Amino acid sequence: MSEEFAFAIFGVDGAARTGAISTSRGTIRTPAFMPVGTAATVKAMHPQAVKALGADIVLANTYHLMLRPGAERIAELGGLHRFMNWPGPILTDSGGFQVMSLAKLRKLDENGVTFQSHIDGSRHVLTPERSMQIQDLLGADIQMQFDECVKLPCTEAEARRAMELSLRWGERSKQAFARQPGRALFGIVQGGASESLRRESARALVEMEFDGYALGGLAVGEPQDVMLAMIDCTAPQLPSPKPRYLMGVGSPDDLIESVARGIDMFDCVMPTRAGRHGLAYTRAGKLNLRNARHAGDPAPVDANSPNEATRTYSRAYLHHLVKSGEILGMMLLTEINLAYYQELMAGMRAAIAAGCFDAFRAETKESWRGGMI
Ligand code: GUN
Repeated sequence: MSEEFAFAIFGVDGAARTGAISTSRGTIRTPAFMPVGTAATVKAMHPQAVKALGADIVLANTYHLMLRPGAERIAELGGLHRFMNWPGPILTDSGGFQVMSLAKLRKLDENGVTFQSHIDGSRHVLTPERSMQIQDLLGADIQMQFDECVKLPCTEAEARRAMELSLRWGERSKQAFARQPGRALFGIVQGGASESLRRESARALVEMEFDGYALGGLAVGEPQDVMLAMIDCTAPQLPSPKPRYLMGVGSPDDLIESVARGIDMFDCVMPTRAGRHGLAYTRAGKLNLRNARHAGDPAPVDANSPNEATRTYSRAYLHHLVKSGEILGMMLLTEINLAYYQELMAGMRAAIAAGCFDAFRAETKESWRGGMI
């Protein structure tokens, strides 16, 4: 339990890197995709199955867990790992992003955010200090600074205000972080869609010396080329020996393009949420199993997949489960999607190590052509 937090890079191909992050609860192979376990569960999945599909780390949310069942309750029960029966590394988001998208009657000032719970209307205050205290009570291995993410598009003045506030909150988060061996605190770059603000934010965070750096405020409605431009201007400002995490991203194409630009970690609800809505991500693109043309199709989602569910269940059966609102439909499609996401990450890691990332990127993108199959 005492291994120091560390990041070792084993291979570099262009700007893409592959390596391993060590934490006291295990190793995270990078580039890594972190399934989202917002409320201490990766929805519709056993933790053991999440692991078996290749996930080394899951994400959980300060905002949801502070409201229900409460961080103090989880701490009394032995911490989040024991509570959810996930012994591996956990990253917690700090709450600011979720408050702004989910809570009612929010009031933001220098101190933090006062808001009403979206669950029962109760009043709460989240500050950098309280966010770090909650993440400590949960026992998260990688903790995120408290920040403010603005919706895009926004004015330069608004992006600057939120970016500067996030820097001050980053400093307060650092002061409040309960450092323990094997645990890490990441800073979050903000700055909207402005290259100069992004660079300024990254430089100031690097001065503060975090254990890793996240890119926040992206995949919030901007086109992909804007997001990639923000990665292109930010990544070179960040120290290459530290992990880089792109928050809340993305589609398989977003992941490949971001890894090509030097990103090491991702989280996104896309594979799990899409699975609950009848969509499958596959090597041949996205498949909508609600579509009537699958009703009589005996073919599996992908006969050549390494994942058993993907190879086994017919499109006709999945179509039937989805149309009937059966729980198993959500379970199988969540598994199929997480299996594909982890297969994609494993493929990227192997390609970077072998020095053929560009070929892998081109072949993989070619295999998706045709989109919705
Ligand atoms: N998740 C996706 N984007 C963000 C962000 O900008 N900040 C935080 N804290 N979490 C995020």
